[in-house]
Order: sequence, then C-alpha cells, then structure tokens
Amino acid sequence: MLSIKGLQKRFGGLHVTRDVSFDVPEGACFGIIGPNGAGKTTLFNQFAGAIKPDAGEISFEGRNIHGLPIHEIAKRGLARTFQIATGFPELTVEENITIGALVRHRSHLQARSAARKVLEKLQLAEVGSMPVQQLPVQMKKRVGVAVALATEPRMLLLDEVMAGLNPSEVGAFVDLLQTINSEGVTLLFIEHNIRAIRRLCPNTLVLALGSVLAVGPTEDVLNNPDVITAYLGKG
Ligand SMILES: Nc1ncnc2c1ncn2[C@@H]1O[C@H](COP(=O)(O)OP(=O)(O)O)[C@@H](O)[C@H]1O
Ligand SMILES: [Mg+2]
Repeated sequence: MLSIKGLQKRFGGLHVTRDVSFDVPEGACFGIIGPNGAGKTTLFNQFAGAIKPDAGEISFEGRNIHGLPIHEIAKRGLARTFQIATGFPELTVEENITIGALVRHRSHLQARSAARKVLEKLQLAEVGSMPVQQLPVQMKKRVGVAVALATEPRMLLLDEVMAGLNPSEVGAFVDLLQTINSEGVTLLFIEHNIRAIRRLCPNTLVLALGSVLAVGPTEDVLNNPDVITAYLGKG
C-alpha cells in the first residue's frame, strides 16, 4: 500500500534519511522504532508531504505521491498525527475535528456531523466543546488521532501517540487503535513504547542514524543483537 524506495534526506551536513526502503501492505499495523534522533519523524514528514525528500520514491496505492502537497496527500487517504500536538489549540475539540472532516465534506454542516461521529467513537464527546489547549496530554493525543481519522484515511501515520500515558491509558489506546485497524485503516506506528509495539504490530522496522537497521517480525527484530546495541549504546 505504501512503498518507499531509496529515500534520502539531508539537513545541511546532517544525513537524516539514508537510503530507506520498505513496504507496508494494506491492512497492516506496521511499527517503526529507533533511538531519539534516529530520523523517524523526518521520515514521516516525507510521506506526509511536510518535507520534500532529496531522492527516492514514495508511492501510495500504486501512485507516486513524492512532492505532492499535504492536502492532496490527505485527499488520497494518507493522514498523520503530530508528535507535538498541533492543529488549532485555541479552537474546541469539535472544531478541530470538523476541520479534519472538511477534507471529505464540502459543506460545513456535513463536516460537523461527521466530526460528531468521530467524537463519539474516540470517547471525546464530553470534552467536545473545550479548547484543545485546556486538555491533558493524553486527551490531546486522542484529539490528534480524531482529527486524522476525520479525514477518513485509508492509512494513518501515528507519531508517538503513547508518550506520556500511564499503562492503563496505553492499554486503552492500543484497544482503540486495534479497532481502527480492524475497520480497515492501515496503521504506520512510530512508538517508543515497546509493549504497545508488541501488542499492535506483527512487523516492525528499526531506524538508527537514518538507516534501516532491521525489519521483520517484531519479536525477531527486538531480539536482534544489532538492535539491542543501538538502543543500549556501544561498550
Ligand atoms: N528541520 C530540521 N533541520 C535540521 N535538522 C533537523 C530538522 N528536523 C530534524 N532535524 C534533525 O534530524 C535528526 C532526526 O530527527 P527526527 O526525525 O526528529 O528524529 P526522531 O523522530 O527519530 O527522534 C535529528 O538530529 C534532528 O536534530
Ligand atoms: Mg520523532
């Protein structure tokens, strides 16, 4: 469904994406892990249209999306959350989700009605009229998922949505993402929380210093000695 070939990105002298290639099949829940600064968010930003890659191919459902603007990529069914919650913090939860829904609905009324369904689904109805900036962090993350989901994606890119959550909140979030996945949304999941990766993702890719260090069945990858070294540091 998403196919990446030979992706390269430099920020000045910093080579942050080094010849990255992988495929995410339709219906998958695919994990991406890696130490801080490995280039995970930068990789995401390239699929989602926020950053232009220097070289390589990105195809989504067999069509090249390399270099397309963000709204065009969203229209084609690829949506993402942000590691640092963005959107419009001074607007209410419902207003933010409605803005997401406007990707699919021409009228504001239709978008609002679609947004209400997403509010219910993500159990955000109670805080629908609150400004996003007043919510605790785990609710903000949930709103981020809701806004992305309101664009009715075929594939959802999640960037560290579990950060800052306690174990029971992580469990609830994992259940929610499993439901979304079972309803036909392919998930690409960047996460530090290894328990969440284990529960959600049959296959995982490890990025280290911008390169693919390992990719394959999650347990194999987590037991790979190179991966253990990359996480624990050398020596
Ligand atoms: N816009 C930018 N300009 C320059 N350097 C950047 C920019 N964005 C990220 N970087 C650098 O690229 C590297 C990878 O960052 P990032 O993709 O955020 O890693 P991760 O998400 O894996 O923690 C880091 O060294 C970071 O400082
Ligand atoms: Mg990141």
